[in-house]
Amino acid sequence: MVFESLSGVVLALLLATALYSFGSILRRMFLHPLSGYPGPWLGKFTDIPGMAPVIQRRRTQSNHELLRRYGSCVRLGTNHLLFCARESIVDIYGQSSSPCLKDGALYGGLSVSGAVNLLNAVDREQHARLRRLASHSFSMQSLLKSEALIQEKVDEYVSVFKDGNSRVNILERTYMLMLDIVSQFSFGESLDCLNGRNAQAPADVKAFFTVIPPLSFAPFLRYLPIKSIQEGRKGVFRLDSFSRDCVASYLSRQEKHRGDVAKSKLFLERMANAVDAETGTSMTQVELVENATIFLVAGVGTTAATILYLIWECGQQHDVRRKLIEEMRREFPDPSIAPTYEKASKLKFLSYVVDETLRLRGPLNGGAPRISPGKTIAGRWVPKGVKVETNIYTTARDPEVFPSPDQFEPSRWETATPEMRQMSRPFSYGPRNCIGRHLAEVIILLTISRLYQLYDVIPDASLTPDKMQQLDLGVLEPGCDEFFVEVVPQSNLLSC
Ligand code: HEM
Repeated sequence: MVFESLSGVVLALLLATALYSFGSILRRMFLHPLSGYPGPWLGKFTDIPGMAPVIQRRRTQSNHELLRRYGSCVRLGTNHLLFCARESIVDIYGQSSSPCLKDGALYGGLSVSGAVNLLNAVDREQHARLRRLASHSFSMQSLLKSEALIQEKVDEYVSVFKDGNSRVNILERTYMLMLDIVSQFSFGESLDCLNGRNAQAPADVKAFFTVIPPLSFAPFLRYLPIKSIQEGRKGVFRLDSFSRDCVASYLSRQEKHRGDVAKSKLFLERMANAVDAETGTSMTQVELVENATIFLVAGVGTTAATILYLIWECGQQHDVRRKLIEEMRREFPDPSIAPTYEKASKLKFLSYVVDETLRLRGPLNGGAPRISPGKTIAGRWVPKGVKVETNIYTTARDPEVFPSPDQFEPSRWETATPEMRQMSRPFSYGPRNCIGRHLAEVIILLTISRLYQLYDVIPDASLTPDKMQQLDLGVLEPGCDEFFVEVVPQSNLLSC
């Protein structure tokens, strides 16, 4: 008797659950404000179409395929819209009195110490204050005062090709170059990876992306014996300690030698001395540590991947590489004098090559999710709370703006139209665009011009297009484990 009534209750509960689930599926499919938007069938009542490719590390490419299939606006999940229009770039990322703010669920956890930083700040005022305090450090004028530091590191990077080293793996080395430069700027002290002092640092920065996003979604993971999580946590901890030590040692030096330090040009020093005119505040020690570290996280993988893809793409096309080398040799004929930014930034073909690399291989060309405040985006009303993003990977491959969009053709930038610039936005757009853009540009130009001034660089035959596919690990990076190049010194080049 008891069993009979119990099974009746269980049955009733199961039935109620099934009816409720069925009802909410029908509601999401037919009554939800996004029900009229095209998209994959599963996305009408689940978030699976958006989640599965994240695990496969091809989120950006999968979103691109969906946009190609369903049109310029796709319902990716129950409450999530993907766009690929010029207008949606402006409407989602542009300056506005009703802005689409960053998605706190995604960005909130992107922190080393748990504090708010420039990249993860969601609140508009909080972000604006940090941006005002940091932006001075990133001005071109300020960066160029430290140009010699970058040239020195670039020379250390290319020094490996001397002494008859004609076949070299530059994968790790390129990340090390970025770490050495960005850490020097961020902490006033280089990690010195290239000379072997902190050889594990590239792995520590990579660990940030392996560990921090999953931990912010599922904090209990930190207690589980998962090797990648535990090793990654140690790496992030090392990074955090390095940053804390540098900031503490800088602040104590500042106390002793206030005058000397104030003259200095590096980020940490500038940020520590900056006073926000609007709030009258400066960065606290915790904010200094957090932001200096986040520059490593945001700046190293992105810039290194761009340099590696530039070398790869030029390696695939003899004519392109030859033109680039000719320009370098013409403008920088004396190998004992390293190229300067002033001169390199005026070289046309070099700039086309960089623009084309960033169009096709931009490391952050995947969409950056924002939350709609309730506004019209690309001509469609998007209710408050809906997650929205524009896939720059797709806008930068619009065949009407970029004929043969999948081809690496630097010369297309010879006649760049305003529309090309509006559709290829590797550094994003609006108040949350890349604050490190100038630094990235200086590093890329100085590295590439020095490299091709001295050598011809040819990717090894072992490096296939398949291995060079972009893996979406938050940053779009080459999927290869090694990147061997063959180098021919300038003096041995017969025809260039
Ligand atoms: C080729 C190299 C780079 C590319 C393509 C790139 C691209 C981008 C993009 C697309 C964003 C917007 C991200 C979003 O909205 O989620 C961004 C933001 C940011 N980037 Fe870069 N970046 C590069 C290098 C750097 C460097 C060298 C640094 C610093 C050393 C840096 C620091 C930052 C920071 C702090 C933000 C957040 C800015 C804010 O929200 O105010 N980036 N970057």
